[in-house]
Amino acid sequence: MTILALETSCDETSAAVVRDGKILSNVISSQIKLHAEYGGVVPELAAREHLKNILPVAQAALAEAGISPAQLDAVAATQGPGLAIALLVGFKAAQSVAFALNKPFIGINHHEAHLYSPWISGETLAADFSKFQPNVSLIVSGGHTLLVLVESELKHRVLGGTIDDAAGECFDKTGKLMGLPYPAGPMIDKLAGQGNPSAHDFPRPLLHDANDDFSFSGLKTSVRYFIRDHPALLDDRKKVCDLCASVQAAIVEVLVKKTIRAAKRNSVRCVTASGGVTCNSALRHELERACKKNGLILRLAEKNLCTDNAAMIGILAERKLVANVPLPLLDEEIMPGWALA
Ligand code: KG4
Ligand code: ZN
Repeated sequence: MTILALETSCDETSAAVVRDGKILSNVISSQIKLHAEYGGVVPELAAREHLKNILPVAQAALAEAGISPAQLDAVAATQGPGLAIALLVGFKAAQSVAFALNKPFIGINHHEAHLYSPWISGETLAADFSKFQPNVSLIVSGGHTLLVLVESELKHRVLGGTIDDAAGECFDKTGKLMGLPYPAGPMIDKLAGQGNPSAHDFPRPLLHDANDDFSFSGLKTSVRYFIRDHPALLDDRKKVCDLCASVQAAIVEVLVKKTIRAAKRNSVRCVTASGGVTCNSALRHELERACKKNGLILRLAEKNLCTDNAAMIGILAERKLVANVPLPLLDEEIMPGWALA
């Protein structure tokens, strides 16, 4: 089966062609530079940029895959959650292509797609579901922090999520307080590599609570007060590195400990992780260490598949079509607030 998938839920315009579990192309046009000067994603600008890029990006994905539209068996797009006017662009474009080709269309939940991206191997660019096993999946991005129990393929249950800021948001907002450019996550990761994670003891919110929820706004506020009380620190590179390492250590410890605890409580032997924050080197390292210590198998999404991409949308769409899930009507609408159940 050959599928064209489109993803425009936030600030990446992406198109991918997937065939029989293999990614033939995955083209991503990022808008990070556009939004950086505003310190966050501006929905109106994101939508205009998606409109400008969606057809060239889709065309590039088809060309790279060596596939003509007539060879497509189905078309997929992210249906939600995400920014409404951004989602509309990819969703309506995909529906139109499906209509014109008279092929099936399927709308995909962006977070459900993240659950399967760790099963895509970076070497073969193919999803290997023969190795699939029940797992606890951590999804950590700029907008979301979720722990999900994936009981079997296409069957999952959300265990918990953030009650305020997402982990990525915490990286970005604390970085902004330090004067780092948006999105600050990658820069904090880099500076933290040269700092001392024990330099400052920031709070680990909800670490000891007996639930799978997260909260990062208290940590952000604590960093705000710390910088207010030590403003000169920002002029000293070594001290900024220590601050980055300490903030990162607090975020990573909460994410790792709660993920491992959820895996053990639910008696699964596998942990997976995806979403932009999964690019963080300390998170990858600490998850590896903790999984090894607890006898758990770890599958981390490849870095280029951690951030938003259409390949994961296509991979999940194909699994659903093969499993004969009911297809939506062509006048189906986007679902910006579509929470994973
Ligand atoms: O999944 P994603 O591309 O977009 C959303 O759907 O939000 O994630 C973007 C988030 C941003 O908050 C960014 O700062 C964070 O992922 N991020 C990182 C790293 N790379 C990206 N955070 C920490 N360390 C990184 N290396
Ligand atoms: Zn995402």
